[in-house]
Amino acid sequence: MCGIIGYIGKERCQDVLINGLKSLEYRGYDSAGIAYVTQGKLFITKEQGKINNLENLVKKTKSSLGIGHTRWATHGIPNKINSHPHKQGKITIVHNGIIENYDTLKKDLLQLGYEFTSETDTEVAAALLDKLYKETNNIEKAIVLFQKEIKGAYAIGLIVDDDYEHLYALKKASPLIIGLGDNENYIASDVPAIIQYTSKYVTLNDGEFAKISKNDIVYYRSDAKEIKKKVNIFDNDEASCGKNGYPHFMLKEIYEEPETFKNTVYPYIENGSTSLLEKMPDFSKYDKIIITGCGSAMHAGLVGKSLIEECANMPVLVEIASEFRYKKLFIDDKTLVIAISQSGETADTLAAVNIAKEKGADTLGIINRKDSSIARATKYVLYTKAGMEIAVATTKAYLAQVSILSLIALNIAMKNKQIMDSEIQEIFENMKKLPVQIDALLSNQNESIIKNIAHKLYNHDHIFFIGRNIDYALCMEGSLKLKEISYIHSDAYPAGELKHGTISLIEKDTPVIAVVTDEKIADKTISNIKEVKSRGASVTLLTNDLLDKDYDCTDYKIIVPNVHKLLEPIIAIIPLQLLAYYVAILRGCDIDQPKNLAKSVTVE
Ligand code: AGP
Ligand code: GLU
Repeated sequence: MCGIIGYIGKERCQDVLINGLKSLEYRGYDSAGIAYVTQGKLFITKEQGKINNLENLVKKTKSSLGIGHTRWATHGIPNKINSHPHKQGKITIVHNGIIENYDTLKKDLLQLGYEFTSETDTEVAAALLDKLYKETNNIEKAIVLFQKEIKGAYAIGLIVDDDYEHLYALKKASPLIIGLGDNENYIASDVPAIIQYTSKYVTLNDGEFAKISKNDIVYYRSDAKEIKKKVNIFDNDEASCGKNGYPHFMLKEIYEEPETFKNTVYPYIENGSTSLLEKMPDFSKYDKIIITGCGSAMHAGLVGKSLIEECANMPVLVEIASEFRYKKLFIDDKTLVIAISQSGETADTLAAVNIAKEKGADTLGIINRKDSSIARATKYVLYTKAGMEIAVATTKAYLAQVSILSLIALNIAMKNKQIMDSEIQEIFENMKKLPVQIDALLSNQNESIIKNIAHKLYNHDHIFFIGRNIDYALCMEGSLKLKEISYIHSDAYPAGELKHGTISLIEKDTPVIAVVTDEKIADKTISNIKEVKSRGASVTLLTNDLLDKDYDCTDYKIIVPNVHKLLEPIIAIIPLQLLAYYVAILRGCDIDQPKNLAKSVTVE
């Protein structure tokens, strides 16, 4: 969840740590801290709040070794004492994750005389490492024993007081990469922290650890046997981490959606049906699909379910990843479990993949981050090509996930002969035109319609989204986007369900956003809109130019182009993303780093 950075090399440690933390701030931002060594002494500086608060306190002494952390609190409130790094005896660490057995360990360590100032599980991990280091007088041996005793998830950067020539890194179920420089080396939770310094990196597998000096790195298996690791090179698209003149990453990322669609979809259709069939796994061996993921990724799954069932006639179940383990789900070797994740690091989604594998299912990841944990855990991977997504609220990655799911639906429909050649050609033609249509949707004229609607909405405390079937899945995503960045309470309802209870909340001027993009169900949803309108609601209708009629039940309208049903959800979500953005702007919210959230949720 949090961001970790570590550095060893030249005398520019504090700069590297602070810059690194700034680019990792999207991962957690309730407090931050660094530890660095200057003239043979270790100093720790921490502060509550954002990195800027910390930066003002950091002394610019000469230092060539240090570790830093930006926190998303799991154990203990976000304050200065609980923020990392934590030091116990000769051990100083930064930690991402949760130590599940910290309570038992803490009791034992208290008996041994250790004292704790923070409420964190991390300080317990530091004390345990210190105890094991004292017992073995060897940090590698201490790490081996530590990994055996600890339960839970961790990525840890570590400095030992007896050895300021080395930095240590260890991990299990939380992300950590090692960046390779010239007479300097790095550790980081994610690429943006180090991409300005190096393009070479190594990923650690669970249990592996590394001893890092400025010009050498030794990698170990969990039993301390030395191993060799492959050096990877960052993708070019990972290099572009700036805002490019946009006021916020979220807006920049929305405007990158035409490009995202092209990059994600076009490689699969460059040679028409042939490439679409060749570049995907053979789905014909499965009799059902289960899609799993969290938040927006799960919402993308709901859209995918509709598309695959409707166009390819194959049963699809969607299960929230954090609920996966509690459900029977009837998984066997004829089941394909599709895990959707932008980060590829979401702990619940990774756990669901592992359960699916244990039950004998094949797994397919729809993942944005190359080499991430879920990409490595799944049997097949189809990458979304959204590039780096920094804003906590996902936009372009969600769009790319839905795009891959519509390609899967088309692939299965083609294989099962559920679709005529002429329709396949129509879809390919639509796909070629779609980026231009998205560009047009993002034009000034449409933006000002959406800004105008945002003005009518931003002062309200409750907003409802209604739609049926696939439109309901879009409503869920539109509603989540609005909640997470504007902090307005909002709920999405299947339009027909409203009158079974929730309609009691509709009163004069209650904003209702209705989504109607599916011709088959349009009339029914329009009837539901009339029901809320009759009770005083102020209705914004999102529909397409085919279904747009002179309805007398709407106050505002957003019109998207009518495209093939496999592509309609891709274009229809964009106005809802923009609407959430402009409402949040009018409320003065922190768009890219909404409160209490973090981009990558690496705890269960
Ligand atoms: C989306 O705007 C959210 N921030 C969140 O729901 C997110 O989609 C979810 O946490 C899943 O993340 P992932 O795609 O990285 O697995
Ligand atoms: N569990 C640790 C804490 O609460 C680390 C949280 C994180 O990953 O940011 O401090």
